[in-house]
Amino acid sequence: MPHRAPGTPGHGPAQYLQGKQIRYYRPKGSPDVRQLIEGGFQAFNAGRLSEACHIFADKMLAPESDTTIGLTVAGALTPAGLGGCVIELMERGLIDFMISTGANLYHDLHYALNFTLHRGSPFLDDVELYEQGIIRIYDVLFPASVLLETDAYIRDFLVRAKLAGPMSTSELHYRLGLDLLERNPASVDYSVVAKAAQCGVPIYTSSPGDSSIGMNIAYHELMNGSTLMIDPNKDVNEVCAIILAGRKNGCVILGGGSPKNFYLQGQPTLWEVYGIPKGGNDYFIQITTDQVVWGGLSGATPAEAVSWGKVNPGVLPDTVVAYCDSTIAFPLFCEFAVGSTHNRRARRELVHRRDALVADLLKQAKAAKDARLTAEPAELDRHR
Ligand SMILES: NC(=O)c1ccc[n+]([C@@H]2O[C@H](COP(=O)([O-])OP(=O)(O)OC[C@H]3O[C@@H](n4cnc5c(N)ncnc54)[C@H](O)[C@@H]3O)[C@@H](O)[C@H]2O)c1
Repeated sequence: MPHRAPGTPGHGPAQYLQGKQIRYYRPKGSPDVRQLIEGGFQAFNAGRLSEACHIFADKMLAPESDTTIGLTVAGALTPAGLGGCVIELMERGLIDFMISTGANLYHDLHYALNFTLHRGSPFLDDVELYEQGIIRIYDVLFPASVLLETDAYIRDFLVRAKLAGPMSTSELHYRLGLDLLERNPASVDYSVVAKAAQCGVPIYTSSPGDSSIGMNIAYHELMNGSTLMIDPNKDVNEVCAIILAGRKNGCVILGGGSPKNFYLQGQPTLWEVYGIPKGGNDYFIQITTDQVVWGGLSGATPAEAVSWGKVNPGVLPDTVVAYCDSTIAFPLFCEFAVGSTHNRRARRELVHRRDALVADLLKQAKAAKDARLTAEPAELDRHR
């Protein structure tokens, strides 16, 4: 392993930041990639990825299926430059909402603010990196000042925006996106958060405290006495309401982690908690390195999800798990989608419809409760 002792002369911070700038890659619908996926990816996980591409492009995006599509993102995708793929899908209306780890949204802000992340090596001396003030995410390198300045931007934004009281993460990210667009309009082409605000795509975070965005919100409360509070109940109900409104529902799950469950719990919340028999997902695509054998949710298969009512029993042929590194598989998947017939849909702009959708959820939940209360005495009589 190429190992370098700390303090070797000539290895200052600049030494580690010589690698090319990481830029967001925008898929263009390459016919060559399509040919590879259709002709070359025939078996094993290549075969599964090919299946995933076809389910997405031919079925989920087909106008007649009118599928409401959620994308979930875990794993270090924005640091690796994959935000451009998400931006392209949003711009084309190919995803309707997103659930992401806070880390991916936080690291997206570096691009929005024109800070530079560099290609590097995973085989570096981390003690030396620490001494030189360099942060490493596997082979992605950037100076610690990028973290500090991004944090300072978040804190300034929180003060400037005067956000107060309980708020969903979709509202927080929307307001953050609007702020980016106002301060740096060009960021719409290299920031997922900014593009989402422009396209009206709500972005949720399943564990809001688990990122530098959450850390700076905590600072804002402690140091500035802010009343801003991320309210996960609002997120749960908004996601449920979006799923309820979908004629068909489908997901693209990158990695696993809490975003995967936060999306998939939508249907159980509807039937188990609100008593609304919506049914499960019609389409399920997961690209992950997580294994099923450890029993965790991250690696759980669509078949297991059927038992929870998360996936409709009859649709297993429209579900697939590709066991791949998503930094390889997702750009290929997006190239295929962009090059397909149904490569553009009218945007649903759900960010502007959240209140109406939640009002409809409330109406249906009350009706379901009333129906239950009416049915229960009759049921009791039957058992007497
Ligand atoms: N500053 C911050 O806000 C902050 C917070 C947490 C993490 N991070 C950084 O961001 C990175 C991403 O963290 P995260 O919370 O999004 O998730 P994570 O890295 O913890 O990954 C979560 C899930 O994605 C899967 N996964 C990870 N990489 C994958 C890949 N290449 N292909 C397919 N599946 C993959 C994992 O198996 C797991 O299910 C971390 O590596 C960390 O360096 C930053």
